[in-house]
Amino acid sequence: MAVEVLTTADGRAKAALSRAHASAWQAARTAGHMPPVGRATPPDRPARPDRPELLDPRDVPRRRPGSPQGRIAMLHAVAHIELNAVDLHWDIVARFADTPMPPGFYDDWVKSAVEESNHFNLICDCLEAMGSHYGALPAHAGMWRAAEDTADDLLGRLAVVPMVLEARGLDVTPGMIDIFRRADETRAVEAMEVIYSEEVHHVAYGSKWFHFLCGRHDLDPKGVFHDLVRRYFHGALKPPFNEEKRAEAGLPPDFYWPLAERHTRQG
Ligand SMILES: [Fe+2]
Ligand SMILES: [Fe+2]
Repeated sequence: MAVEVLTTADGRAKAALSRAHASAWQAARTAGHMPPVGRATPPDRPARPDRPELLDPRDVPRRRPGSPQGRIAMLHAVAHIELNAVDLHWDIVARFADTPMPPGFYDDWVKSAVEESNHFNLICDCLEAMGSHYGALPAHAGMWRAAEDTADDLLGRLAVVPMVLEARGLDVTPGMIDIFRRADETRAVEAMEVIYSEEVHHVAYGSKWFHFLCGRHDLDPKGVFHDLVRRYFHGALKPPFNEEKRAEAGLPPDFYWPLAERHTRQG
């Protein structure tokens, strides 16, 4: 099921399949069954539609949020992130099936995947209501790099994807909501608020399973986190951090501050 989602190119079709497969999984779990996890080989890179054109991040035009076109560009970038997030959650399910994990591991990522599918659809609806669509603008080509870099390392994947990249979303989303609120873009505000409330759980699932695996191998979670982020994540973490939401997601300050651009704690 995960590989089917990963090999579906069209965004809306990928989101629909993701929701259908998640429903099948969740129905079985609600009925008290644990479906067999199985084995499959996920593609190195997920299938993508012909559009958007994927560009080096340096070549993606800068967004100026003060204009309607800037706000469309911002939503387009969010749609691209959400589509990648759908694939990232299904990829972790399929890629690490050889590591025995409790059923809740799969429940968490299936739930995250269906939420990302909804986020993608919500943002596409906003773009379409504003006269644009996903694919109308170029998008960031480097989005799958974290997945490739951690394709052989489940702890590294958990550290970099939910605990660094998705945690970064918690830091920047309130500022984006403000931009859309000031522009009276109610639909975008509502969509971003859904995203903001649900992303906390994705970070929390990352932290939960990261700590679980460290415990299984008798490793110090904080030290391992620092090592893995330095190995797989290119660059420093950017303050300011949303310390409250990070705490809610099980990310304490001593995990991320030592990896920040400036190593001095502010405030
Ligand atoms: Fe999302
Ligand atoms: Fe997410």
